[in-house]
Amino acid sequence: MFKTLTFLLCTTLISGTDKCRLPVPLTPTASCGSQQTMFNEGECLCCYYDTENIPTIGIGFNLERGDAAEVMTKYNLTLENVLKDCQDKTTNHCLTDADAKDIFNETYSKSEQCVDKYSPGLPPAKRAAIIDVALAGCATLKQFVKMQDALNKQDWKTAADELRNSSWCEQVGKNRCDSNYNCIAGGKGCTGQTCATGSDVSRWIY
Ligand SMILES: *[C@@H]1O[C@H](CO)[C@@H](O)[C@H](O)[C@H]1NC(C)=O
Ligand SMILES: *[C@@H]1O[C@H](CO)[C@@H](O)[C@H](O)[C@H]1NC(C)=O
Ligand SMILES: *[C@@H]1O[C@H](CO)[C@@H](O)[C@H](O)[C@H]1NC(C)=O
Repeated sequence: MFKTLTFLLCTTLISGTDKCRLPVPLTPTASCGSQQTMFNEGECLCCYYDTENIPTIGIGFNLERGDAAEVMTKYNLTLENVLKDCQDKTTNHCLTDADAKDIFNETYSKSEQCVDKYSPGLPPAKRAAIIDVALAGCATLKQFVKMQDALNKQDWKTAADELRNSSWCEQVGKNRCDSNYNCIAGGKGCTGQTCATGSDVSRWIY
């Protein structure tokens, strides 16, 4: 029994820190925005398990999304084969860098549309921070009802606190969370878009 538990724990820990196969180096910026979100997600050209054990490819593209098979087909890949790379830790069915960036561009635009409905007219740095959250899915963002209320009242501090208290923040780690917190809360030293402090992407990548 104990052995089984230990084994389960170990396999969970190992898969939770899956190696990025065919990593593409990305540069962080000092601001919340699409480039910083790319850096936060990291870029792997082949399938890997993210920290939540979800099979992922490219720049944070969740292979459990409803449209995953369709998107893979568009890039001449078969979802089944891509997932097999995750299971076998192989690199037989991967994206090109251009394709990964193309998919990110589309996912990012969808997240922008989601945020513009969720809370219209946000100032750029705050909007970029919320888009960084929406990349996990529009449905995920919509669960932040109190944050939405606060944003619409321009109560930036409460909105930022709501994000910091969330399980999303726990999942992505302190640096990404703090960076978005700062972009939303604004305040001292954080008026424009110079709010990012880096990312915890190194927890699992490379
Ligand atoms: C997919 O393959 C077809 C046929 O080989 C090719 O014309 C097309 O450019 C490829 N598309 C992508 C996105 O690689
Ligand atoms: C996506 O592509 C369009 C057209 O090339 C570009 O204007 C836009 O900035 C890109 N967005 C991101 C997030 O890279
Ligand atoms: C966040 O959590 C702290 C500690 O649990 C709590 O005191 C605070 O009221 C919470 N803030 C929000 C905005 O929910």
